[in-house]
Amino acid sequence: MAWSFVGLHVWLAWFAGAFVARAASSAPQIPSTANFIPGQGSFELLPDVQIIVDSAHALEGSPSALAFAQTFREDLLSVAHYAWVPPVTVLPVGVGIPGIPVIHITIDATLGHTLYNGQPTLEGYDFEVAPYTYSIKAAAPIGAWWGMVTLLQQVASSVASGAKSITIPAGVGTDSPGWEVRGFMLDAGRHWFDTGFLSELCIYASFFKLNEFHLHASDNLWNPDYLYNGGDAWKELYAAFRFQPPVGSPIAGLVPRLNESWPQTDFAAFQETCANHGVTVIPEIDTPGHSLAITQWKPELMLSGQPDLLNLSYPDTIPTIQSIWHEFLPWFSSPEVSIGADEYDAALGDAYVGFVNEMAAFVQAEAGKRIRIWGTDEPSNQTISTDVTIQHWDFPDADIPVRLLEAGYQVINSEQAFLYLDGKYSDGGVYPYSLNLDLMFAGAPDGGGWAPNIFSATDESNNTRADAPGLRGAIMALWNDWGNNATTMLEDYYQLAQSLAVVGEKTWAGSGVRETELTRAQFESVYPVMNAAAPGQNLNRAVQAEHGDVVYSYPAPWTTLFTPYASMGPPYTLKFSVKPSSVAPDTGFLFAGEDSKLYIANLTFEATGQLFPLGYVLPTDVYTSVEIHATTQYTYAVINGDEDNLRYWTTDMDIWAEYMERANMSFAAPAQQIGGNGFAGSIRDVLLTVG
Ligand SMILES: *[C@@H]1O[C@H](CO)[C@@H](O)[C@H](O)[C@H]1NC(C)=O
Ligand SMILES: *[C@@H]1O[C@H](CO)[C@@H](O)[C@H](O)[C@H]1NC(C)=O
Ligand SMILES: *[C@@H]1O[C@H](CO)[C@@H](O)[C@H](O)[C@H]1NC(C)=O
Ligand SMILES: *[C@@H]1O[C@H](CO)[C@@H](O)[C@H](O)[C@H]1NC(C)=O
Ligand SMILES: *[C@@H]1O[C@H](CO)[C@@H](O)[C@H](O)[C@H]1NC(C)=O
Ligand SMILES: *[C@@H]1O[C@H](CO)[C@@H](O)[C@H](O)[C@H]1NC(C)=O
Ligand SMILES: *[C@@H]1O[C@H](CO)[C@@H](O)[C@H](O)[C@H]1NC(C)=O
Repeated sequence: MAWSFVGLHVWLAWFAGAFVARAASSAPQIPSTANFIPGQGSFELLPDVQIIVDSAHALEGSPSALAFAQTFREDLLSVAHYAWVPPVTVLPVGVGIPGIPVIHITIDATLGHTLYNGQPTLEGYDFEVAPYTYSIKAAAPIGAWWGMVTLLQQVASSVASGAKSITIPAGVGTDSPGWEVRGFMLDAGRHWFDTGFLSELCIYASFFKLNEFHLHASDNLWNPDYLYNGGDAWKELYAAFRFQPPVGSPIAGLVPRLNESWPQTDFAAFQETCANHGVTVIPEIDTPGHSLAITQWKPELMLSGQPDLLNLSYPDTIPTIQSIWHEFLPWFSSPEVSIGADEYDAALGDAYVGFVNEMAAFVQAEAGKRIRIWGTDEPSNQTISTDVTIQHWDFPDADIPVRLLEAGYQVINSEQAFLYLDGKYSDGGVYPYSLNLDLMFAGAPDGGGWAPNIFSATDESNNTRADAPGLRGAIMALWNDWGNNATTMLEDYYQLAQSLAVVGEKTWAGSGVRETELTRAQFESVYPVMNAAAPGQNLNRAVQAEHGDVVYSYPAPWTTLFTPYASMGPPYTLKFSVKPSSVAPDTGFLFAGEDSKLYIANLTFEATGQLFPLGYVLPTDVYTSVEIHATTQYTYAVINGDEDNLRYWTTDMDIWAEYMERANMSFAAPAQQIGGNGFAGSIRDVLLTVG
């Protein structure tokens, strides 16, 4: 009987494998690949897989194909849940060991891929999947990297299907982006973000083949009560410039809060991390509007009565702006930078246009880089140089994309009706929490869905052809109009997470040209799999529960205890009983972690340097039981089991000085340390669970 039991088992395993392999062949990726012709059998990814980079060109370029393959290997471990695979090797084409699966990466400069507008791109790749070999071929390392990302997503689909082995259906495919610029912008001027978070965001975005991270690195809150009341209140309004001048630099006064700025080494490491994942950082220093950080330092540069705008006619203004760029241009590895140049005084069009052209020449002469500006409305008889790329965001304007293209400009689509988000709250509800899937999948006049050539959902005359020569692509934007305490860094990620995937699909594959373009239903079914599998970062702050839903449990009373978990993302429940000896300020914290802290006083959460008191004062010398429940949308406490009285942590946002808006806060669990920083008393029955 034993043999037939084994036989049945093997047969069932084979059957399950065959069934899942077929399902996997239809599992889409984000973005969708352009072409795939199925073949016979499948490639089985085993832990002895050899990753081989063709020795002819393995070390060319920066990053090289070898460097990308090494990043890929790390990512593969994470996506496949393998503890180890052999290191990447460099060998001539065609070398392999029979019977062992091989991933071949080859650079062949003769391969020609093109964008929708017919211009050549190095980002395309060909792939061929056979039972023992998975070959990726591209004209340059970057194309090979996107091919490796496709393979990672195929592995993620197979793993998520629950199949016993990781299999990828055989066949041949070819793939390349429709557009050159596929990016996202983060407002890091009005809200502080550390480079660790920014690096994770780059890595996450690269999993959806986005290739640009536009970093808006200087700005101020806009509040008329502070700016235009005629007094000195503008000096107190939050404004920030994030690049940290070196010690002793003549522009040191530009950054009074060093704790909210990026030292060069941190910025360089972030930029390199992005580059290693195929993402270029496009830094933006915004002038001559949005410039309160500069006028708080040098008040004489302001336009009188408008402290956030610079007076371009004042003799020291342009030299000061150029001295700032002179200091920081050497930091930037991108071939282009953004000088912002939006929302200036429309009565000063000539000065504005002259400034933009002067900056284009200056940045070119200093660093050999080109500039971008936001589309703007600055009436003038002079014209902006067509060397300047215009990032359209608003109608109506002088900024009508079809006309700009006709006039010979290069244009990037950041139209707010499709591509804008605002951190936590949007005045008048004009921007959604995350990009609106109804619009993105059916928002063109023909119902075909948004793509970079779509600027209007209602007026076809404002849309261009998908192959318009000057249309470079699209960049979505997340603004942080309500400042540092409206959101935690991770809450900004929650708004971006799905949005970046949508932009990845639409900028790589959109416009209805390709049959393989994802439907909304396909996108929605595969997105959660890819979000959970995205390697190289852990913005979800996912943790492995020790058993069942329990991450950890410490029933005994503690005053201070360290755990193996730095942080845990929502949804989670954190239960504990606490008997503090004192609840005065400075009596320490109950919990601390990588992303948040929970202080005793008023049960105050801290995240990104901001304080959010619950306003509940714990009694001393008696145990109080506390349950904290969090999702990405809120965090609340239940005290002593009183489920009828859920107490939410909230923030108050000052909306353009017109009204205050209260909103919930989501905090990651401060999972790393229990009790500390002067905490006196005891904490017991600590239980951290998923959900
Ligand atoms: C701008 O600067 C010029 C030159 O100093 C000055 O004459 C002018 O009044 C200033 N304009 C404003 C609006 O501050
Ligand atoms: C452009 O030039 C015309 C003719 O000289 C003049 O009437 C108009 O005011 C000018 N417009 C601007 C914005 O300077
Ligand atoms: C489209 O373009 C015209 C000008 O060509 C403009 O008047 C109109 O407001 C635009 N807006 C939208 C949303 O299409
Ligand atoms: C608790 O918060 C209230 C206001 O919400 C404040 O008056 C009080 O000083 C705070 N207490 C401590 C200990 O922080
Ligand atoms: C930086 O320091 C200032 C006080 O100088 C403080 O208000 C702010 O919260 C700090 N920022 C962070 C991110 O810790
Ligand atoms: C956040 O900032 C606003 C002002 O911008 C302030 O009114 C509010 O008290 C701050 N803190 C919280 C927790 O809302
Ligand atoms: C916080 O979230 C809860 C649950 O969704 C909701 O009932 C409450 O209105 C929210 N509070 C605010 C200020 O939005």
